[in-house]
Amino acid sequence: MTTNNTYPTRQALQQFDTPYYYYDTELLRQTLAAIKAETASHNNYFVHYAVKANANPKLLKIIKEAGFGIDCVSGGEIQAALDAGFPAESIMFAGVGKADWEIELGLDAGICCFNIESVPEMEIINEIAVRKGKTANVCLRINPNVEAHTHANIMTGLSENKFGIAMTDMIDVIKRIEQLEQIHFLGLHFHIGSQILKMDDFLRLCDRINELQDYLEENGYKAEIIDVGGGLGVDYDAPEENPIPAFNAYFDVYRKNLKLREGQQLHFELGRAVVAQCGSLITKVLFVKENGNKKFVIVDAGMTELIRPALYGAHHKIVNLTSTETAETYDVVGPICESSDVFDKDIPLAKTKRGDLIAIKTAGAYGETMASCYNCRKLPNGYTTEDIMSV
Ligand code: LLP
Repeated sequence: MTTNNTYPTRQALQQFDTPYYYYDTELLRQTLAAIKAETASHNNYFVHYAVKANANPKLLKIIKEAGFGIDCVSGGEIQAALDAGFPAESIMFAGVGKADWEIELGLDAGICCFNIESVPEMEIINEIAVRKGKTANVCLRINPNVEAHTHANIMTGLSENKFGIAMTDMIDVIKRIEQLEQIHFLGLHFHIGSQILKMDDFLRLCDRINELQDYLEENGYKAEIIDVGGGLGVDYDAPEENPIPAFNAYFDVYRKNLKLREGQQLHFELGRAVVAQCGSLITKVLFVKENGNKKFVIVDAGMTELIRPALYGAHHKIVNLTSTETAETYDVVGPICESSDVFDKDIPLAKTKRGDLIAIKTAGAYGETMASCYNCRKLPNGYTTEDIMSV
């Protein structure tokens, strides 16, 4: 099996201007195959790739060809999905604040479902649907008040978070739907957070969904679909040992604990787990500087290309691809005028010099999509194995 510590040669990597993202498409294909192996025998399971994790068209094409659906949170993402050839019926559209043009785009394209988060949003979707003579399928995003053990900024399923409809309001909202002529109640949607490694968190979500389904039925309603969102985490510390996330354990939690009703579909929205390990940020060393007893490796990528360390204190394993000398201890920092523009501190790295190529690993998810032009920098390019080999 390929692991993501196999990189093209130095000469191959040096063909492109740094910083850039390198995507190991062999690993991506293996990851997609691992998900398929877990879900193939369940014809009522549907996996929608959460495009917010990475919208690179070359990756989207591979994910589409593997037969996945897609989960979008903006009109731009819906357009990217359509451009990549995803069928409109495979598009889920979530988001706490959808603009009118985004709703129109979804209705015109004929997407599978709007995951809605409030009554005012639903009323506007109905108004636009009536105007267009279309019907909108909706899932109610319910806030299940389940705590996910992850970074506070990426936890979404607690009642204090801005997401979703309170469980206690669920029946009233469905009753309101019955009065809206162009809205069809399709089911329930959940998402408790991201980078979740404790399977117990998903187990508690299953328990909560079971309770809510009973409550729904007591009130005379039935969900055609249950969408459990995404959230499966990846190993940032040891990507070489675990290039493919724990899909078996993840899907097993749902297989064993979620009580689906006859004919009910189960939808998943995985983002990070699909693409994180196949991507690395490739950057070049500009300078190595010593300040007192500290040594800084100053690279040409910064928080503008990969904001996760600065924003969440996230850890990404860093390796020097071009030095085999004995390791020394460095802080690896970017060129941006912000003290938080640090990739990692006091880490061992093969003795590093100007011109070396550095890989910042496990950067395929929420890397390229979160890049910015701060300091008037250019957005990074993304190259796949095929791009690098074809030059
Ligand atoms: N579905 C919904 C409704 C979501 O909000 C998200 C992610 C997903 C699915 C996909 O979750 P995943 O499988 O990727 O965990 N920028 C942060 C992560 C933000 C996640 C936002 N929502 C980071 O870099 O860690």
